[in-house]
Amino acid sequence: MARTELLLAGAIALAACASTPPPPPLPFDVRPTMTGLRVDTLAIARGLEAANQDGVVSNARRLESIVIVPPGADAGAEFDSLAAGFTSAARLLRGSLESDDLPRARIAFSQLLQRCDACHARFRAPAR
Ligand code: HEC
Repeated sequence: MARTELLLAGAIALAACASTPPPPPLPFDVRPTMTGLRVDTLAIARGLEAANQDGVVSNARRLESIVIVPPGADAGAEFDSLAAGFTSAARLLRGSLESDDLPRARIAFSQLLQRCDACHARFRAPAR
């Protein structure tokens, strides 16, 4: 690699570091909850793919009622609002599945996935 390319690669790496400070630590371990979320989310993805919306209503109900911030824990206002946004997206998804509205359920599901990403972008440390 030419020297200028090396310098450029270094600058890009530094810029990436500067724009992604480590996420603020949480006062609880959110990983067990995330493992559960993932199971239900994958089941819903498969259900929507197979147009089997009835079969995944219970998964959506679980997502809607999952408690991300344990009672009494203080995760901060930003995390709380990302968690609340997730729950409202799950509510919309559950409602569209219950009313057998597959097109709406697909939209609601992609909005739900955006809520996962929004919170991860801010609070999940990048993989090393
Ligand atoms: C309100 C915030 C928030 C939302 C919403 C959220 N996550 Fe997470 N998730 C986190 C944080 C924070 C971590 C990193 C936890 C750690 O490494 O300690 C994480 C980690 C994970 C992990 C890795 C768990 C592990 O054992 O390392 C998975 C899988 C995951 N999330 C799936 C999801 C899915 C799927 C959704 C949406 C359906 C979702 N998450 C929504 C905050 C969130």
